[in-house]
Amino acid sequence: MYKVEQLQQIRRIMSEKLDPKRYEHTLGVSFTAASLAMAHGADISTAEMAGLLHDCAKHFPESVLIQKCRKRDISLSREELQSPAVIHAIYGAYLTEHKYGITDEDVINAVRYHTTGRAGMSRLEKIIYIADYIEPQRSAADVLPEVRSLAFRDLDEAMYVILDSTVSYLTSGRSHIAKDTLTALEYFKRLRADRRK
Ligand SMILES: [Fe+2]
Ligand SMILES: [Fe+2]
Repeated sequence: MYKVEQLQQIRRIMSEKLDPKRYEHTLGVSFTAASLAMAHGADISTAEMAGLLHDCAKHFPESVLIQKCRKRDISLSREELQSPAVIHAIYGAYLTEHKYGITDEDVINAVRYHTTGRAGMSRLEKIIYIADYIEPQRSAADVLPEVRSLAFRDLDEAMYVILDSTVSYLTSGRSHIAKDTLTALEYFKRLRADRRK
C-alpha cells in the first residue's frame, strides 16, 4: 500500500526521466492497473505504483543497460542478451528496489516480468503485464478489443490470449522468444485446460 505522496513523487520523477510519449504510456499503464486492481480486489495503490515503475529503465539504450547491469553485478544470461526487451525489465526491477526504495517483492517482480510473463505469475504480475498490453494508447494487436474486456473478468484467460497471440506473432516474424514467455504460455494453457475439465 502506498500513500498518495509516494505515488506523486514517483510520477514526478518519471515525468522528468521519460520522454512525453513513454510517460503517457506509463500513466496509462498505472491507471489501467489501478482499474484492474479494482475489478479483481487487489490493492489499488500497489498496482498504481508498479505501473508507474514498470518502464523506469526503458529510456536507456540497450548498450547502456548492459553496461549498467555489468557494473552492478546483475548477471545476464546468453538468452537474456538475445532479447534486449527483457533487459529493461531486469534493470528496471533493480532500480525499483535499489533506487526507488520499493521493498515489496511483488512490485519488484511485476516490473521484472512485465515483458516476458512467467509460469505461476502473481495477481499483481498479471495485472501489470496485461495493463502494459491494453492501456489506452495501445492500438496494434488484433486481439486488443477482446483482451480489453476479458481482462476485467478473467486475468488468467486474458493472459492466455495475450501470450498466445504474442508467441504466434513472434514465431511468424522469426523473432527470438524468451524462455519465460514460452513457459508462461504453457502454464496458462494448462490452467485453461484444467478449468475446462
Ligand atoms: Fe516495458
Ligand atoms: Fe510498458
